[in-house]
Amino acid sequence: MGSGSDLNVLHRGEGGTGRESLGSAAPGFAGIRGYPGRIAVTLDYPDPPLSCPAFLLRPFRSDDFDAASAFTRDTATSRWVPPLPADDPDLVVALFERYRADGDLLHLVIADIEDGAYIGEAMLVMGDHDVGEVGCGVVASRRGAGIASRALRLLDRWCVDGLGVKRLQALVAVENPAGLELARRVGFRAEGLLRGYWGDGDDRVDVVMHSMLPDEVPPAD
Ligand SMILES: CC(C)(COP(=O)(O)OP(=O)(O)OC[C@H]1O[C@@H](n2cnc3c(N)ncnc32)[C@H](O)[C@@H]1OP(=O)(O)O)[C@@H](O)C(=O)NCCC(=O)NCCS
Repeated sequence: MGSGSDLNVLHRGEGGTGRESLGSAAPGFAGIRGYPGRIAVTLDYPDPPLSCPAFLLRPFRSDDFDAASAFTRDTATSRWVPPLPADDPDLVVALFERYRADGDLLHLVIADIEDGAYIGEAMLVMGDHDVGEVGCGVVASRRGAGIASRALRLLDRWCVDGLGVKRLQALVAVENPAGLELARRVGFRAEGLLRGYWGDGDDRVDVVMHSMLPDEVPPAD
C-alpha cells in the first residue's frame, strides 16, 4: 500500500480475463457474473464481518472522516497511505460504495471492538486473473499491538475462502520498513523489486512485490 499504490487505481477500464468466472464460484460475489472483457463484479462485504477480540472490519461511515483524514495526514507514514477519495464525508462513503459495486475495491475500516471508533483501514483491490492486492494501515496511537497483522490475516483468509482469489499481492516501498515487516510477518513472500514503480513525476520509489498463493495463506488467528 502506498500513496502511489495500485490501491489508488480504482477504475481499471477495459480488458482483463477470468474475473467474471469468480461470480458463479465465489459467495462474496453473490452469484453475479461480470461482463466478459469488463472486470466488474460487485464485491460483497464479508458476512459475518471479519472480527477478533480487539476490532472488527466494517464499511466506512461518514463519522469516520475526521479520524481517517488525520491518519492520511500523519507525516511519518502519509507517503504509504492512500488519500481519501474526496473532501466530503458523505461523498467518501458514496465513492467507496461505488468502487465496491463496480467490483474494483473493497475498503474496510478497522473499528475498535469496544466503541466502534476508526483505528485503521484494510483494503482489497481486485485485478485481472483472480489476483487481489491487499493493503492496511493503523493509526499511530494503536501501532505495535498486532492490529495490522491480525487484520491482514483475516482479510487474506477471507479473500481466498470467500472470494476465490488465486493470488494475493502486497506492494510495499523499500523505504517502508514497517510495511515490509508486516508483509513478511503475515506470510507474504518477497518476489522482486519494481524499480521506480510509485511516484509523482520524477520523484519515484522502488517497491517490493510480495505474493501469497492460496495454500500459503495462514489461518486467520
Ligand atoms: C505498517 C503498519 C500498518 C503496521 O501496523 P501495526 O498495527 O503497528 O503492525 P503490527 O503491530 O501488526 O506489527 C507488524 C510487524 O511490523 C513490525 N514493525 C512495526 N513497526 C515497525 C517499524 N517501524 N520498523 C520495523 N518493523 C516494524 C512489528 O514489530 C511487527 O513485527 P513483529 O511482531 O515480528 O515484531 C503501520 O505502521 C502503518 O499504518 N503504516 C502506514 C501504512 C503502511 O505502511 N502500510 C503497509 C503497507 S500494507
